[in-house]
Amino acid sequence: MAWTQVFPDIEHLSLAAAERFIALAAEAIAARNRFTVSLAGGSTPRVLYSLLASPTFSGRVDWSRVAFFWGDERCVPPEDSRSNFRLANETMLARVPVPGEHIHRIRGESEPAAAAAEYERLLRQVLGDNGPDSPPTAGFDLTLLGMGDDGHTASLFPHTPPLDEQVRWATPNWSVETSTWRVTLTAPVLNASRQTLFLVSGSTKAERVWQVLEGPRDPHTLPAQLIQPPQGDVTWFVDQGAAARLTSVSLGAPS
Ligand code: 6PG
Repeated sequence: MAWTQVFPDIEHLSLAAAERFIALAAEAIAARNRFTVSLAGGSTPRVLYSLLASPTFSGRVDWSRVAFFWGDERCVPPEDSRSNFRLANETMLARVPVPGEHIHRIRGESEPAAAAAEYERLLRQVLGDNGPDSPPTAGFDLTLLGMGDDGHTASLFPHTPPLDEQVRWATPNWSVETSTWRVTLTAPVLNASRQTLFLVSGSTKAERVWQVLEGPRDPHTLPAQLIQPPQGDVTWFVDQGAAARLTSVSLGAPS
C-alpha cells in the first residue's frame, strides 16, 4: 500500500516524519525488542535528524533498542563533508544515546566492492537470509529514502546495472553527477522493509515526483519506482513544491 501526504514546507514535513519515526520505533520495539532503520543520505533528511536529536523528540525514543544502517554511502572517508554517515552522525547520532555498536555505517573509505560485500555480510547477519543468494527473511523496520531530481533513490541511478540486481543486497555504483563511487542497497533488501518513507522537498523535484507516482512504470528511467515492498507500506512525505504536479490520483485515500 502506498500513500502520499503533502506538507506546506520541509519543516512541517520533517515534524511529521519525526512523529512517524517515534510511532514506528515504539511499535517495533514492543513487537520485536528492536527498531532497525535504514537512513537516507543527501540533504533533505537533515531537518528530520536534527529534530529527532532535539529535546522535544529525543526523550520519546528508546535509543538503546534502535539500530541504524544506511541505504547508500558515498565512497569517501566518514569525516568527508559528502559522507552520508557524517550527515547523520553530526545531526543526530552523536547527540542521542544510541549504543555505538548499533551504528552500522558503510565503510566509504574502503574499496567500493569490498565495502559492499562487507555490508552485505553484516545485513545478512542482522536481517537473516535463507542462503547466500536469497532475499532477506525480514527487512528493516523503517527505510528512509530521498529522491534525486533524476528520479534516483539511494544510489540506484537511472540505467545502471544495480537496478536489475536480484541477488546482491549491496553493490557499488558510479555516480556520474558527482563523479564518485557509491555503495548502494539494492531492490531485494530495500523492498523487504516493513515501512518505507520517502522524504522529498523542493519544486525542482515536482516533475519527477509526478512521473514516479502518476506516470507510466519505467523503473530503469525512474528508479524510485523500483521501491514497491510486496509486504510493506510506502509513504511519500512531500512538500508543496515537490507536490506541485500531483493530482487527486496520488493525493486521495491510501491506494
Ligand atoms: C545520496 C542519497 C540520495 C538522495 C537524493 C536526494 O547519497 O545522495 O542517498 O539518494 O536521497 O539524491 O538528495 P537531496 O535530499 O539532497 O535532494
